[in-house]
Amino acid sequence: MPAFLEVSDAAGGLSPQQQRGREIYRRGTVAGASAGTAAIGADGMALPSSSFACANCHGIWGEGTREGGLEPPPLNWKRLTSPAVSTVTGRRRAPYSPETLQLAIAQGLDPAGMRLDAGMPRYDLPAERLAELVAYLERLGDADDTDPGVSSKSIRIGAALPLSGPQAAAGMSIRDTLELTFAAESRRGGIYGRSLDLVVEDSGGDPAGLLEATRRLVERDGVFALAASLEPGGGSDDSGRLLESLGTPLVGPVTLSPHQKEPPNPYIFYLLPNLFDQARALVDFIAGRESPRRPKLAVIQAGTALDRDVVDGLRQQASLQGLSVVAEEHDSPAAVAAVLSKRPDYLIFSGDGAGLARVARQLDGGASPALAAFVSTAQSGVGLLPETVAARALLAAPAFPPDTHQAEGFFAVLAAGNSPHTYLGLRMAAFAAGSVLIQAVRSSGSRLSREGLVNTLERLQHLETGITAPLTFRPGQRVGSAGAAILTFDPVSRTFVAASGWLAPKDQF
Ligand code: HEC
Repeated sequence: MPAFLEVSDAAGGLSPQQQRGREIYRRGTVAGASAGTAAIGADGMALPSSSFACANCHGIWGEGTREGGLEPPPLNWKRLTSPAVSTVTGRRRAPYSPETLQLAIAQGLDPAGMRLDAGMPRYDLPAERLAELVAYLERLGDADDTDPGVSSKSIRIGAALPLSGPQAAAGMSIRDTLELTFAAESRRGGIYGRSLDLVVEDSGGDPAGLLEATRRLVERDGVFALAASLEPGGGSDDSGRLLESLGTPLVGPVTLSPHQKEPPNPYIFYLLPNLFDQARALVDFIAGRESPRRPKLAVIQAGTALDRDVVDGLRQQASLQGLSVVAEEHDSPAAVAAVLSKRPDYLIFSGDGAGLARVARQLDGGASPALAAFVSTAQSGVGLLPETVAARALLAAPAFPPDTHQAEGFFAVLAAGNSPHTYLGLRMAAFAAGSVLIQAVRSSGSRLSREGLVNTLERLQHLETGITAPLTFRPGQRVGSAGAAILTFDPVSRTFVAASGWLAPKDQF
């Protein structure tokens, strides 16, 4: 029986009122929108309450913190309803009641009407919100104050994947690999004794379906977090916004090229680099191996948003490296001839596999430039390259080919499930997402919260997965790796061979 059927209450032991209070406490919001305003000091400017989440100062579980010399006290019902001495001013105070607690939050007054230290903001919240907040303070940090999807035995993780439609086989390969990755962890004893249970909802493979599947996972299935959802085509702003409003993290969405907004969605953690940075790393590789010669570059591109990312990256890095882009053509029957008339040393193709194969056929034979392309978008064309072209081709990849790196963990997981080695790139992405989630949940400690998980992920530095570049996140940085591995293709053994170590693009010289 799937574990989610055993847990009747998806959101732990809190009432709906207390759950809303918890969101105000942790994020200053209700359903993603600011609950009100807050100000610090007598004439402090009123800011959205989301800028002054209680948890930032008092801790996610009300354990208290030390913030820049200030020592906001622990908050729990027992302490609040007992006499106590201020950790900041040393003043004695009487027990709070629900009514005097509302005054502490709204006006910064203790039960005797004395001013609390000015480090405690004053909150302007609608009466209903204040009541929700105080209702939650009654349960803050107690045994029932658990996040959705978390029980003493399991953690429920969701993935929105195409299980129907043309991408169903791709979706199932991701589902199977995630399931195997989690099962392997459970066999090792789980994380603080908890297993990871996967719930998958069918997205059908399009943005509208992804949004609905994501909504079902969070609102109906009550998952704690998501991993390895497949983002169709150019990404999915709506489902990203939904996750942000619900405060639900998504680790390692599978996509051809993450497009990160400014500022990035704080809840979505991409693992693999975007095509912009892959293109920059490719130019660095070419410049490095040709130095001191300055090879001429040319581009044929298919005109999608992904291809524009590639061209932007190529041009930025070419100018940094002092290389010239002598031609840029839209993919068309006349493009190759037009580009060759400019006598480039490298022809960089950005488009799909069929386009790559077509361009390569036209290059076959002549004293042509070396062809370069991107595994993320054109992998299906690599096997179709004529031998003379393949022998000199360069391929930029978002991760190393699995057999050249420390991928034992990955292949052990596939072997345990007798999985075929089809959709290997997707299976690697799913394994990486599952592994990062496992490591981050473990480092978050036994008291698990979504905010705590986001904080842990945000601090990961040089995390090794065995199959990706080492991953690093920061506040404001939600793509874990930048750059590319440059590969060549051996047309005889039909395998990729790494021509470089991991190349992070240079920003300056
Ligand atoms: C910027 C940091 C900060 C934030 C944000 C903050 N507090 Fe405080 N809070 C403090 C400090 C500092 C004190 C200690 C004041 C004192 O002892 O005089 C305090 C005191 C309190 C007290 C009184 C505790 C006692 O024992 O007398 C309550 C209740 C309280 N905070 C609740 C909240 C709630 C609820 C929120 C969110 C709506 C919140 N605080 C947000 C810093 C903060």
